[in-house]
Amino acid sequence: MVSSSSNQPEPSSDLALREIPGSYGVPFFGAIKDRYDYFYNQGKDEFFRTKIQKYNSTVIRTNMPPGPFISSNSKVVAVLDSKSFTILFDNSKVEKKDILDGTYMPNLNFFGGYRPCAFLDTEETDHHALKSLYLSFLASSHKKFIPYLRTSLAEMFEIMENEIASDKTSDFNTNSDNMAFEFVFKLVTGVSPSETKIKAKGPSTVNTWIALQLAPLGTAGLKFVPNFIDDIIHTVRLPFFVIKSGYKKLYSAIYDSSASLLDEAEKSGIKREEACHNLVFLAGFNAFGGMKVLFPTIIKWIGSSGETLYKRLAEEIRSVVKEEGDVTFSALEKMTLLKSVVYEALRIEPPVPFQYAKAREDLVIESHDSKFEIKKGETIFGYQPFATKDPKVFDNPEEFIADRFVGDGEKLLRYVYWSNARETDSPTADNKQCPAKDLVVLCSRMMLVELFLRYDTFTAEIGQLALGTSIKITSFTKAT
Ligand code: HEM
Repeated sequence: MVSSSSNQPEPSSDLALREIPGSYGVPFFGAIKDRYDYFYNQGKDEFFRTKIQKYNSTVIRTNMPPGPFISSNSKVVAVLDSKSFTILFDNSKVEKKDILDGTYMPNLNFFGGYRPCAFLDTEETDHHALKSLYLSFLASSHKKFIPYLRTSLAEMFEIMENEIASDKTSDFNTNSDNMAFEFVFKLVTGVSPSETKIKAKGPSTVNTWIALQLAPLGTAGLKFVPNFIDDIIHTVRLPFFVIKSGYKKLYSAIYDSSASLLDEAEKSGIKREEACHNLVFLAGFNAFGGMKVLFPTIIKWIGSSGETLYKRLAEEIRSVVKEEGDVTFSALEKMTLLKSVVYEALRIEPPVPFQYAKAREDLVIESHDSKFEIKKGETIFGYQPFATKDPKVFDNPEEFIADRFVGDGEKLLRYVYWSNARETDSPTADNKQCPAKDLVVLCSRMMLVELFLRYDTFTAEIGQLALGTSIKITSFTKAT
């Protein structure tokens, strides 16, 4: 097993040992009170900020939603700074079994009765087998990334231009979902979804399937719905049967067209059926689910930065592409501003903001100013935006600074954690870092390359959704 040496320091420093402050309140009602504060009275950021101030600590005890009646134990130790957060990456000290969604696990019916790789701990043999399969599949697909992305992105922007011409507006989220699904499905299966029985239904099927699993972690966000009604989604699990037939179609579309990947899985001892349910999870939840949140977030932050940044990005991208003759891996490497902008978006608004794990043994962790003891079996929860906006690590952490990671700023990449590890670490079969870490960064860069090769500027209306940002593009100005 690999335990990343760059993570938590050995607790030998002279920081004072402090009891973890905070409270779980009275049984049952304490968890409900925290849930109301978190969703309705305060909101996520204020919920944690208030506790940090109250206890003068970035490591605190609290309940995390959903609580009753979905999770039987909502008690966590929250790690809310850049330093203590890294305990979550040390697989020798923490277990990541059935904890992807936090203090509850969706019904296994959502995954064909199997536990997908993301729910497996590093000590489970299936984790090693599946993660190795994914890593070698991604490595061998390398040459397809840029051409597939260029095709999917070009199609997306053409559709959006037509929508703006006819309706004066184009929904970026819908188009980005379609583009991401097309790209991921083709990468995994080798064929376009339109050539299978899933046709154009992929994104809506997967959206419903994800929403049913994650409903207990969000709110409908409808102003006219009273809180106590909205709160019902935090008390009962939503059933799988709603999406059963859609899931079956998706499963058989992937089963029919991923023969070589499924053969590989069988060779490494994974049953064909289990491997295929894993591929559905990989393509639908991990890949599509992540991109669904990330791409609109990137557009939001670039869009809010304004025309000076557009101009600088367009100049950099166009001049490097001209110099290199095409969009290639080496061309992308030379685009220093572009690279920094993507990392900055991943830092300021990490697409998967919550990480959980359980202590394998009694542990000592460190924040910037104290040491704390965590007992074996306790759940540790990290709210990533507080770690990657830690003022002790990043200057003006709430500000989107396009050049933050240029030149000497690259040293700060080790404090960017979006992939469930440091940006300077690499995914392996023995850790829990996203195996597509580099692919995700590539996709993000490619989206901006395509955008600024085609257009000088764009205008957008930005809003908030239950899962991420909503973007409506209202104009594109063609490249001059
Ligand atoms: C924007 C897109 C993506 C984001 C934001 C993202 C983020 C993440 C994060 C945060 C984790 C760790 C979850 C945890 O344990 O707490 C993770 C794990 C994982 N991701 Fe990604 N991911 C993305 C795309 C992808 C893609 C494209 C693939 C595959 C093609 C993928 C496959 C996986 C797998 C299999 C795991 C589980 C790793 C393990 O169990 O060791 N992800 N991802």
